[in-house]
Amino acid sequence: MVKVDVKGCSNFVDQAKYSEYVQKAFDAFDVLKNETGAGNDFLGWKKLPRQITERELSDYEAIRDKWIRKGVDLVVAIGIGGSYLGAKCVMEALSHNFAKQLKRKDAPEVVFAGNNLSEEYLAELMDLMQERNCACIVISKSGTTTEPAVAFRIVKQYLESHYGKAEAADRIVAITDAKKGALKTLATQENYESFVVPDNVGGRFSVLTPVGLLPICVAGFDIKALVAGALDAAKGLEIKSEKNPAIIYASMRNYLHTECGKAIEILLNYNPKLTYVAEWWKQLYGESEGKDGKGIFPASVNNTADLHSMGQFIQEGSRVMFETVLHVENAQRSVVIESDPQNLDQLNFLAGKHVEHCNHMAELGTVIAHQDGGVPQLQVSVEKVDAFNLGSLFYFFEFACGVSAYTLGVNPFNQPGVEAYKKNMFALLEKPGYEEATKAIKARL
Ligand code: PA5
Repeated sequence: MVKVDVKGCSNFVDQAKYSEYVQKAFDAFDVLKNETGAGNDFLGWKKLPRQITERELSDYEAIRDKWIRKGVDLVVAIGIGGSYLGAKCVMEALSHNFAKQLKRKDAPEVVFAGNNLSEEYLAELMDLMQERNCACIVISKSGTTTEPAVAFRIVKQYLESHYGKAEAADRIVAITDAKKGALKTLATQENYESFVVPDNVGGRFSVLTPVGLLPICVAGFDIKALVAGALDAAKGLEIKSEKNPAIIYASMRNYLHTECGKAIEILLNYNPKLTYVAEWWKQLYGESEGKDGKGIFPASVNNTADLHSMGQFIQEGSRVMFETVLHVENAQRSVVIESDPQNLDQLNFLAGKHVEHCNHMAELGTVIAHQDGGVPQLQVSVEKVDAFNLGSLFYFFEFACGVSAYTLGVNPFNQPGVEAYKKNMFALLEKPGYEEATKAIKARL
């Protein structure tokens, strides 16, 4: 179970005032639970851990096995935002840090595309595809997003020219809306194997749909454990109580934001494998809360590396932030520091200690230093980095996001601001239908 500890905020909290925020979070919890709030047609993610069937999971395994039989060793997963970050996060967290260098190949390697518009990136992807036996998973809930559409056009043309149209179609899986969008039309016409992103699940809440589960399964990770972890978290989070970690997290971050003027939340980790947990979390909280002139800006640092860069600012710069430490109780591997007869590095005082012990002391030392520097700290902890705990963490952050955004007074499930750059980009690219906007924007250049 995910645990939340707010002891590191005690110096900043007026208990009577804080109780008001706990009450607000309780009210928000009711709104989320009873589905009476804004955006309540996008609450399908709440039921996912209970709804996912063995059959669904074996459909993903069947695709992985088919591609392995064809000798596929590279799968290009195309998607952006919620259509890629969940899968990327799991793969980064569960892969050996040096899997590439060790050339470990238990399953096809999954690489990502469609999450940028860099020409160099796509050209270099083509260099890689030419060396490998390839397949593709194209993911877009709306089916109309430009970045994945551009990448897919290029990858599809390569697959068709290299393998022939029929074989290429057998190497492409589409994940999109059930009825609408350009990707749906294309998938139907080309007869691609397809999966549906449910109407009532938004992109950033979709990691436990085919959007996350298929690429994670193809890459060889344990999707059953991921779902089991989410289900375990869901059972605990549904209970309305002051001990509910989602209530604690939502109350405290809203308190710090509104009462202490903290505008930035930094998610810290002490394990490089967790870098993309923060990237996934940033999308979830940034898109869900940042609207109507409100919200806490989600940022992240990777420690201990960033203690030697951003650490200075966090310790002594503008006092605008609070921190949430992603704490992992147990390392999965063991490296003990040995005694050295010469002791030139003067580290013999650490002889016999595990490296993770030093990591935990760095974490603890930072907690206290940052509190002394005026930075309140929350702690979100899991027992270890594995598929089960990641599933729990996903569900915890999603549920807490709903509670927190309703506490803040915004609709967590829309993202109207994402459209602004798209309109300008289409106008500048002279997309048909944008003639007036093209004239207007060119006049401003
Ligand atoms: O959270 C969201 O819904 C968005 O950020 C989407 O994930 C992102 O824009 C990708 O959209 P789509 O999957 O429709 O291509």
